[in-house]
Amino acid sequence: MSDRKILVTSALPYANGPIHLGHLVEYIQTDIWVRFQKMRGHQCWYVCADDTHGTPIMLRADREGITPEQLIADVEQQHRADFDAFGVAFDHYHSTHSPENQQLSAMVYTRLRDAGHINSRSITQAYDPVKNMFLPDRFIKGDCPKCGATDQYGDNCEACGATYSPMELKNAVSAVSGEKPIEKDSVHYFFNLGNFAAMLGEWTKAGHLQAEVSNKMAEWLENGLQEWDISRDAPYFGFEIPDAPGKYFYVWMDAPIGYMASFQALCAKNGLSFDEFWQKDSNTELYHFIGKDIIYFHALFWPAMLEGAQLRTPSAIFAHGFLTVNGEKMSKSRGTFIKARTYLDHLNPEYLRYYFAAKLSAGVDDLDLNFDDFTQRVNSDLVGKVVNIASRCSGFISKRFDGVLAADCAEPALFQQFIDAQATIAELYENREYGKAMREIMALADKANQYIDDKKPWLIAKEDGKDQELHAVCSMALNLFRLLVTYLRPVLPTLATNAESFLNLPAQSWPVAATPLLNHTINSFTPLMTRVESDKIAAIVEASKESLEKPATGKSVKAAVQAQSVEPLAEPIDIEDFVKIDLRVARIIKAQSVEGAEKLLQLTVDLGGETRNIFAGIKSAYSAEQLEGRLTIVVANLKPRKMRFGVSEGMALAAGPGGKDIWLLSPDDGAQPGMRIK
Ligand code: 2FM
Ligand code: ZN
Repeated sequence: MSDRKILVTSALPYANGPIHLGHLVEYIQTDIWVRFQKMRGHQCWYVCADDTHGTPIMLRADREGITPEQLIADVEQQHRADFDAFGVAFDHYHSTHSPENQQLSAMVYTRLRDAGHINSRSITQAYDPVKNMFLPDRFIKGDCPKCGATDQYGDNCEACGATYSPMELKNAVSAVSGEKPIEKDSVHYFFNLGNFAAMLGEWTKAGHLQAEVSNKMAEWLENGLQEWDISRDAPYFGFEIPDAPGKYFYVWMDAPIGYMASFQALCAKNGLSFDEFWQKDSNTELYHFIGKDIIYFHALFWPAMLEGAQLRTPSAIFAHGFLTVNGEKMSKSRGTFIKARTYLDHLNPEYLRYYFAAKLSAGVDDLDLNFDDFTQRVNSDLVGKVVNIASRCSGFISKRFDGVLAADCAEPALFQQFIDAQATIAELYENREYGKAMREIMALADKANQYIDDKKPWLIAKEDGKDQELHAVCSMALNLFRLLVTYLRPVLPTLATNAESFLNLPAQSWPVAATPLLNHTINSFTPLMTRVESDKIAAIVEASKESLEKPATGKSVKAAVQAQSVEPLAEPIDIEDFVKIDLRVARIIKAQSVEGAEKLLQLTVDLGGETRNIFAGIKSAYSAEQLEGRLTIVVANLKPRKMRFGVSEGMALAAGPGGKDIWLLSPDDGAQPGMRIK
């Protein structure tokens, strides 16, 4: 038994929605890593929990006429069932709404407070006078005070990039009641992140983060660390702050502490030492797998909270990118926003585990699920290469040799080659380079198939007196199959388990020094995996299509109507004003998403010899791929504006109320970039 003791987490899914394929990139990635560590003989624990607190969960329960406790209990059952079906094997799955988390959150807070890291002061916020609650920025909608764009959230405008306070929004309404919010004061509690500037400066450069993440942190640190508001006023579904009646911990304060709470519950279950893993000088390892959107919380707030509470900090944070489907953001209208359950209704979960593994790397790049590629890879690699070895050779062993493998290894050198590959494959798994690991394994599968093709057991079987050769070849092939399946075990636990029962073997550990199975009795073969049928994919897409006609959940009818109505006409202008606007035909030569901006696309346009950078709030209606090469009309003489994400050097013209219904103006094909519109 090795002496590595490893605690691993995946981000805690919110308890207000189902698990979808985007989530699964992370859980599958983590689960593969944990299974690999366990196969290596390390003591490795994988914990997670539902993230249950906060306003959205409270409001959803309210809308459904149930208590938040009922809601989170129902959702937890669904989450557990989905994870289980996908083979995501937590050692413990908990809830942030648990006594362990309440006690640990209070402990962390108290330690931070006693060490002087918490301040309190009164702040003014938007308040819903009908629902009698403070409104998070995301629950206030209105028109941008700078550019007038409608249906903007309370903190920033995705059309022009302006940032503002929710009270500056024009025609602001509460998304909860549809009423106009009022201003109200209340005392809030702040975690003084600035006290940890030096510590974070070092920590973020000390090898705990991927290089690209560490660079991003350096930028954020350079801009200075703001204090972090960790309290919310009642009504709020969460934990009351110990010394502040009526004030609750903000969900993001107690969520990461949920990692500790889940582990504490695991310790109670199986006698592990909680302190050994969490004390300041712990020799154990702690890894958090997360999406790139929550790096700020995990690489700044979380290490600072732990440090301030005299606890250990993470060994590493492993961030991954987002999932796209067929090259585009997952979309409910296109049927590519696929819930875990919908997938499970139609396809084998191990197809997806393999596909994700084949495409995952250690970086933060997005991962694309392309349905054709998915079908092709699973069919060709798993069914065509791996499982095929066993189906080609097992029949001969059972029919001609009583299910007993040969007494000698026919090709010791080839067997040794397969064993020697373990070091490289292990290193790739360890470093989360699963795509490369899958390529190594498939190269071995090619070798095994080549061996069978060269020996042609189906011909040997027809010749008299060649029994020994047939026995040797098929036994050799099955010995290679056994190693391939063992290497794939972290990715395909069910296939591996079924292959182990076929081969009459116990659960395999990492084959550092495996010896060939000789004189070994195997069981009869049953197909281990069938081909992906493309009509199943079509059925998943169909079942995932959602109509866009219904108002977004959580939006009051009033707010929804307001967002869709035609805007009133602006003040009349003189022709002299109009001619000042230089409208030009432009060709979009490049379009890309803007990290951190939900609605923006960054366009590079050609104005007939001159290239401009323009940010356009049209991402809800167009994917980057749909725009490249397309003509549009831009306001070419708008002064460059510095936006949150860069400088915009013009404005692309579009019409429509928002969401999917935005139409970029497109001149006829005869138009040339640079032409003026008059
Ligand atoms: O972004 C999310 O989905 C959060 N629920 C993740 C929380 S991770 C951790 F900090 F608890
Ligand atoms: Zn704006």
